[in-house]
Amino acid sequence: MDEYKVTPWEVSGEIDYDKLIKQFGTSRLDRALREKLIRLSGGDEPHHMLRRDFFFSHRDLGPVLDDYEKGKGFFLYTGRGPSKAMHIGHLVPLIFTKWLQDRFKCNLYIEITDDEKFLHRRDYEWSDIQKNADDNILDIAAVGFDPERTFIFKDSEYVRNVYPLLLKTARKITGSTAKAVFGFDDSTNIGMQFYPAYQVIPTFFEKKRCLIPAAIDQDPYWRIQRDIAEGLGYYKTSAIHCKFLPPLQGISGKMSSSAGAETAILLTDDEKTVKNKINKYAFSGGQATLEEHRKLGGNTDIDVPFQWLSILFEPDDSKLKTIHDDYRAGKMLTGEMKGILIERINAFLKGHRERRKIAERDVDKYMKTGKLAASMWERVYE
Ligand code: TYM
Repeated sequence: MDEYKVTPWEVSGEIDYDKLIKQFGTSRLDRALREKLIRLSGGDEPHHMLRRDFFFSHRDLGPVLDDYEKGKGFFLYTGRGPSKAMHIGHLVPLIFTKWLQDRFKCNLYIEITDDEKFLHRRDYEWSDIQKNADDNILDIAAVGFDPERTFIFKDSEYVRNVYPLLLKTARKITGSTAKAVFGFDDSTNIGMQFYPAYQVIPTFFEKKRCLIPAAIDQDPYWRIQRDIAEGLGYYKTSAIHCKFLPPLQGISGKMSSSAGAETAILLTDDEKTVKNKINKYAFSGGQATLEEHRKLGGNTDIDVPFQWLSILFEPDDSKLKTIHDDYRAGKMLTGEMKGILIERINAFLKGHRERRKIAERDVDKYMKTGKLAASMWERVYE
């Protein structure tokens, strides 16, 4: 038995990412491919999530980059299941997606799976899910994607434009495939059995290769897509996978809103809440006493504040190295490490709140009136 679990609905335990690559049949993002991606992205300032191996795995990234080099281009696709308020972990793939869009100037589709969450979360009313979806969409728009090249759509709204495509796709996926890939059983409602077809079809929105940036938990969907795409006349999708931002309590599993608000920093947390949560809950790699810490130093590998700085909040390599070295040497204390993180998160969330205000005004550009959005609403019944 594995000591960890990774599915689209559950992530737990201490994940062995090398083993996961083998289990899922993906490929490690090796140095040559990473360097090619960096070179094509303009060469300078590769995103720190790329430099630090946080995006660590892929499927067919090579052909995407080849197509880009040949001038054929590619498009991006990612998504969000709006069950609750978003936490900072959900922003990780979105921030990287924005970087890719800025560098490669490509179209981006963002699927909001209100259907999936309604079917999966039987404790939620439809109206709760809709409220969360509308709220999450503002947080996503606040990331600052190019409004001319981005289309954000809610499944239940957009379905009338894609129902034939959805049916063509659903007809190719058997119950036994869905069972094998997702572990569905006879008690799984039939809506959940149909839903995977909807997560697959945005990969067919253009006759170009699709690249999906997401954490590796979503990969089972791409496996199904890759089995059926060519039979439907489309490319097998490509994907670039990240690891998980860990929860406050320790480096196992993933930050998750269903695990309780005290395990995550929510985008709605105010300054005091952030400070309290980090000080009270963030697992520290520091020693038990001040004396020991000064003598032995802290362990950055298991220190959640350090890990969060490395993944998200300290993009400057030399500053991160100073923090790392000072902590390891016992010069920096746990309280100081936490203090840096609190300051960074609060600065980030302040900016996020401001961008969200602008998004309240501009969100239609992503959903209805922008160039790509308007053209997607025209594409009925192809
Ligand atoms: P959802 O809402 O569970 O997650 C949204 C995105 O956030 C990633 N994620 C994380 N990344 C880093 N650290 C974490 N702790 C963490 N927790 C979640 C997920 O991998 C995902 O990229 N079924 C999907 C919605 C969806 C989708 C997609 C996602 C539809 N189409 C295409 C990615 C790509 C879902 O419920 O995601």
